[in-house]
Amino acid sequence: MLTVDNVSVFYGRICALDRVSISVNEGEIVSIIGPNGAGKSTLLWTIMGVMKPSSGSLWWRGERLQSVPSWVAARGISMVPERRRLFDNLTVRENLLIGAYLRQWDSSMKEDMETVFRLFPVLKERLNQYAGTLSGGEQQMLAIGRAMMGRPALLLFDEPSLGLAPALTSEVFRAIQRIREEGTTCLLAEQNAFKALEMADRAYVMNVGRVALQGSGKEVLANPEVRAAYLGVKAGSL
Ligand SMILES: Nc1ncnc2c1ncn2[C@@H]1O[C@H](COP(=O)(O)OP(=O)(O)OP(=O)(O)O)[C@@H](O)[C@H]1O
Ligand SMILES: [Mg+2]
Repeated sequence: MLTVDNVSVFYGRICALDRVSISVNEGEIVSIIGPNGAGKSTLLWTIMGVMKPSSGSLWWRGERLQSVPSWVAARGISMVPERRRLFDNLTVRENLLIGAYLRQWDSSMKEDMETVFRLFPVLKERLNQYAGTLSGGEQQMLAIGRAMMGRPALLLFDEPSLGLAPALTSEVFRAIQRIREEGTTCLLAEQNAFKALEMADRAYVMNVGRVALQGSGKEVLANPEVRAAYLGVKAGSL
């Protein structure tokens, strides 16, 4: 579905992605883990067409992906950015409707809102509340719900569990699994490595702009170096 082939991205002279290759197949949950500064967010913004690769190519369903955000959005690729980026002074309802801005106004919009409310019932109770007054967890749910309103084929999540309490983190991860079950392919960047690997079909470990390791979620989770570096398990103790 999506192929990132040997892509390098620079911020000025800083190389944030160094010949990175990943792929995402239809229907998968793919996780990217790695420490601060590894390049996870840069990779997602490159897929969204915001960052332009200096070399390498991206492919979407057999077509060369253009590094133009509107082109990417029109193909059904959407992102839940880090720290949500909601419109604080708009209500929950208004934020959800903004997520559907690329679509015709029709009755399916109401069905999609109901789908979002099934995922996150609390949003229905808060429809007329300003987004800025929601709790951190509710804001994350709204950000995901807003992205779902665009009926994405592929949804990118940047650190969806950042700053959330464990119970809310579990709820968000459960929601991601349900989103996949309902037909949206999911690519997530996460520091919460255990959960992200546990539910991933496949995973990539990034380090200073490179893919250091890849495999099925289970394989990466079982890797001794990953366990030592990300899961606080001593190498050799397993
Ligand atoms: N706007 C920017 N200008 C210059 N350098 C940047 C910019 N954004 C990111 N970088 C650099 O690019 C590298 C990759 O950053 P990126 O944000 O993609 O990493 P990350 O894996 O998402 O990290 P984190 O886990 O902290 O979110 C880092 O060295 C970072 O300092
Ligand atoms: Mg990041």
